[in-house]
Order: sequence, then structure tokens, then C-alpha cells
Amino acid sequence: MSVSRSACRTMMKAIRVAQFGGPEVMKVEANLTIPKPSEKQILIKVAAAGVNPVDTYIRAGTYAKKPALPYTPGSDVGGVVEDVGSEVTNFKKGDRVFTVRTDTGGYGEYTLSDSSLTGVLDDKLSLEQGAAIGVPYFTAYRAVIVMGKAQKGETILVHGASGAVGLACVQIAKAHGLRVIGTAGTPEGLDLVSSIGADVVVNHRGDNYTQTITEACGGSGPNLIIEMLANVNLEKDLQMATQRGRVIIVGCRGTVEISPRLTMGKELTVQGVMLMGSTAEEWKQMHAGIKDGMTEGWLKPHIGHAYSLDEAAQAHNDIINTKGATGKLILKL
Ligand SMILES: NC(=O)c1ccc[n+]([C@@H]2O[C@H](COP(=O)([O-])OP(=O)(O)OC[C@H]3O[C@@H](n4cnc5c(N)ncnc54)[C@H](OP(=O)(O)O)[C@@H]3O)[C@@H](O)[C@H]2O)c1
Repeated sequence: MSVSRSACRTMMKAIRVAQFGGPEVMKVEANLTIPKPSEKQILIKVAAAGVNPVDTYIRAGTYAKKPALPYTPGSDVGGVVEDVGSEVTNFKKGDRVFTVRTDTGGYGEYTLSDSSLTGVLDDKLSLEQGAAIGVPYFTAYRAVIVMGKAQKGETILVHGASGAVGLACVQIAKAHGLRVIGTAGTPEGLDLVSSIGADVVVNHRGDNYTQTITEACGGSGPNLIIEMLANVNLEKDLQMATQRGRVIIVGCRGTVEISPRLTMGKELTVQGVMLMGSTAEEWKQMHAGIKDGMTEGWLKPHIGHAYSLDEAAQAHNDIINTKGATGKLILKL
């Protein structure tokens, strides 16, 4: 009797973090046991794992919620189902899937996920693109549609459109009939934001760029602003937004002093989002919206750079310190 090599496999390679610290605390370990799914879990053979800014905050030990050590970082992966728990009925071995969160970490050859935070990957998308859906597109959908309540015909400013979440916001807003202004900090980023459908692109490192945005809105301002760096831009957003505008804060890396008076005359709303704060109903809504995007073909993740597992430390350094995002960073397994 012949037994396939994969059927015998019990060990895997993954990143392990034994202490919080700089990127160098991520070590590749080769002899880790492949986990087994419990009743509601799915075992996924990972093809690629998304690298998100939050992975670096968690690794550094500065994030509010800290995992027990040692742990494997990473939450969104693209891969193929290897095994399912006894109560999982909506996935089977061989399905191409993406995750929004994993139970055992994405930076490894295999991971366990909960079926409620896993989705079927459309055939149009590669497994690498699958690793670029979970955190960016669900966050973007939550910001633009669930919290931002975007309406067809409105103007949206995606303040930081060249990164993973920003590009997803642009695609979601265009698909819902909004006029999109997207910002980036480099010519490559501006070209990319334009190529995926933004109507107007503006360099957020340019002089007086907020004036350009106001002019692009005919002298008023955006109805909805999705903000990727609120500690730098919140005051500008409050100045730019139109009457009853909504500012949705997705990213923030520090403190800022603003005059609350700026919200009064125009009756502005400022709302923060936290993807993992979503209710069960909102997860359903987001899954449905993302599925529509894949089926209709407008959801197209753009991979900025792919690294090997050995290069995870470089990827963590780049996502925080390199200016000039051009989409999602992933690790290829
Ligand atoms: N709230 C949540 O649940 C949630 C979920 C996911 C992500 N996030 C946060 O959202 C942010 C974006 O995540 P990401 O994965 O898209 O990161 P990313 O791929 O690294 O993108 C960062 C974006 O910020 C832009 N940026 C840099 N300086 C800026 C400035 N002065 N003004 C406006 N934009 C600026 C970058 O543009 P250039 O590089 O072209 O300058 C790029 O478009 C991060 O802070 C992340 O932690 C929050």
C-alpha cells in the first residue's frame, strides 16, 4: 500500500516569538507539531500570510491585547483546507480559503481557524491575494459601509489610499457608487491608487494638498473621510469635511491636539473603528459584502511585496518604517 507523503506529515515550520521586542524576536522553528482541529476549527495549509501593522504592535508588546508567549504572529492567510473539525459543515478538505483571524497564527505552514472567520476564496483570486483580504478588506468594509454609511453619489476621501486598507477602501467605495479622492505619498503610490479607480489622487506629502482636495470638491469638502493616520491628520480632516461630514478613524499612531469647536459649526461626526469589535450580525454583513466583491470582480487585492518566512523581520521593519506603500505585504510559505 502506498501512503502519500502529506498524509504522513506531522511537523511544520512557523515563526515563533518567545519574548516581546524588535523584529529580531521572530524566529523560524522547523519542528513544530501540526495542530489538529477541534470540533469547530479548520486546519489550513497556508500558501501566504498577510503582514499587518498590528502584527508589529503585538510583537513589540505595545498592543492592548497580548498573546501568551510563545506565539506565532499573523491573522490573515490564503490557503487550502487540509482538515475540518466534526461540527464544520460549510468547508471541506481541498477548499481554497482566506481567514480574517487564525487561532494559532498565520506565519507558518499550517494554521487553525474558526469557520466563522474564514471565507471561500473565489477562483478569480490567487492564494497570495487570499492573504490580502482578511484584515484589509473587512476593515475597509467596516469603515466605509458599516460605520461610514457611505451613500451612492457622495464624495469620499481615503486619507492614505496606497496601503492595504486604503486600496480596499477605494475599491469598495467605487463599487458602491461614490466619487473617490485618494491620497498617497509617492508617485508610485499615486499611480497605483489612480489605476485601481480613484477619481482624483493627491500627494499627502505635498504643500497645501488639502487645498487641492477642497478644490476637487468644488469648494466644499468630502462627505466621508477614512483616516489612516489620525494623529497627523485629524485636524485637517475636520477642516476639510463638508457640512455633517463623517470622519472614520482606522489608523492612529500617537496623540494630537485639536479644537473640538471644529466639529460644531459643520456638525461633524468622528467615529473610530476596530475590526475585532464587530458583532455577529456585522461579521455576516461584511462576509456578504466581501463575497459580492469577489463574485462581481471588483475586489482585487494588490500585493506590494512578497517575502519568504525567513524575511519576516524585514517585512515587519518595512511595513512600519518604509514610506511609499503600494498595497499589501505578504509572506509566502
Ligand atoms: N482599526 C482597525 O481595526 C484597523 C485594522 C487594520 C489596520 N488598521 C490600521 O490602519 C492603518 C493602515 O493599515 P494598512 O494595513 O493599510 O497599512 P499600510 O499598508 O502600511 O498603509 C499605510 C498607509 O498610510 C499612508 N500614510 C503614510 N503617511 C500618511 C500621512 N501623513 N497621511 C495620510 N496617509 C499616510 C501610507 O501612504 P504612503 O506610504 O504612500 O505615504 C499608506 O497608504 C495602520 O495604522 C493600521 O494599524 C486599523
